[in-house]
Amino acid sequence: MIENDFEKILFSSDKIKNRISELGEKITEDYKGKNLVVIGILKGAFIFMADLVRSIRIPVTLDFFSVSSYGMQSQSSGVVKIKKDIDIDLTDKDVIIVEDIVDTGLTLNYIKKYMKSHNPKSVKICTFLDKPKAHKTEIKIDYLGFQIENHFVVGYGLDFAEKYRNLPYIAILKKEIYS
Ligand code: IMP
Ligand code: MG
Repeated sequence: MIENDFEKILFSSDKIKNRISELGEKITEDYKGKNLVVIGILKGAFIFMADLVRSIRIPVTLDFFSVSSYGMQSQSSGVVKIKKDIDIDLTDKDVIIVEDIVDTGLTLNYIKKYMKSHNPKSVKICTFLDKPKAHKTEIKIDYLGFQIENHFVVGYGLDFAEKYRNLPYIAILKKEIYS
């Protein structure tokens, strides 16, 4: 049973669903009359992005972006290599970057700078989860699903060694699984 790998379930799929409809409402209000482009960061954000955009009730253009960290795998360095670049022109667009989780914040800071260099009108950040105690840089999160403590979590797009992404909930992984 996959559940044996978890300390506990942190957010049920019902709880996630409710939170995402609130986020979708907020974004719908904030972006009325704007040229909204939602950019999902692969692979982790794919499920969150799919649910989020279906709760936004204004026109939205979608794109995806993928990076990998250089160097040590266990710790984010903030130095990233682009694996899949954006396809659409961001000039004068109102961009929301959608990420699964902010840990150190280094990856997202790099990605935000990169998007800003494409002359958009605005760039905001929407992340499903945030670990504020793990931040190593100043990072402004404009739309947030949930704050969490420094646990290692999986599910709802988030993985450990490419596993558990398919779970419809967020669970805390047992320490013995990843250490
Ligand atoms: P950082 O904010 O630059 O440290 O990197 C954030 C990235 O690290 C996320 O996009 C995830 O891929 C990964 N990550 C950080 N914490 C977790 C976690 O608890 N579970 C799964 N992946 C995580
Ligand atoms: Mg990720």
